[in-house]
Amino acid sequence: MPKIVIAIDGYSSCGKSTTAKAVAARMGYGYIDTGAMYRAVSLFFTQNHVSFSNPKDVQAALDTIHISFKHNNRTGKNETYLNGLNVEDSIRTMAISNIVSEVSAIPEVRWAMVAQQQKMGRKRGLVMDGRDIGTKVFPDAEVKVFMTADTTIRATRRQQELLAKGSLVNLSEILANLQKRDLIDSTRTESPLVQADDATLLDTSYMTIEEQVDWVIEQADQRLAELHRAGK
Ligand code: DC
Repeated sequence: MPKIVIAIDGYSSCGKSTTAKAVAARMGYGYIDTGAMYRAVSLFFTQNHVSFSNPKDVQAALDTIHISFKHNNRTGKNETYLNGLNVEDSIRTMAISNIVSEVSAIPEVRWAMVAQQQKMGRKRGLVMDGRDIGTKVFPDAEVKVFMTADTTIRATRRQQELLAKGSLVNLSEILANLQKRDLIDSTRTESPLVQADDATLLDTSYMTIEEQVDWVIEQADQRLAELHRAGK
């Protein structure tokens, strides 16, 4: 059986990460949350007072950043590490959500992250979620999904996620953050958030996570069957 790449792109809080994680587990594939990488860079820039507008400072900072993922057997989660420190919780705060789109629009940041992501997926057998996976990171991904959902439903989902972590955030604040991020993500010059020509659109507004996972697995099974028929 060949190993394929499954690219899941789309707007924030459509269930991309949860779906991607479950698909990877069911297929025995690796999983990379590329949003976590941009969040980790944002955390580093904040902690080290890196000036976003100075490409030299940005590059110098990027040269000292090492991002990795480690599976936590206790939580069952793949956790994000920044220069050896577990930053899984600190990258999910509103403070980071408020600056991550600005940081991820910086060309030097994108070049560095895309290069790392391509390296991580060299052996294929991977589910990767983000904004530019099907267009930029793996334009040759065998399965490409582009997720969208109603904005208010997305904001409510994000609010529940934050609440589960003990942080109560106003719905209007979350809504404003999502709208601002959508705008910056889809209008930036370097690899903006757009649906790849060969990606399939999935509106998750009224779908459960299980339905989303089944849907992606079906796409993957169909693609694997096609590859099998083609003798690949
Ligand atoms: O998936 P997320 O909400 O954790 O992503 C955080 C931000 O990172 C998102 O607003 C845009 C950026 N991002 C990106 O530009 N490219 C990616 N491949 C993944 C995320």
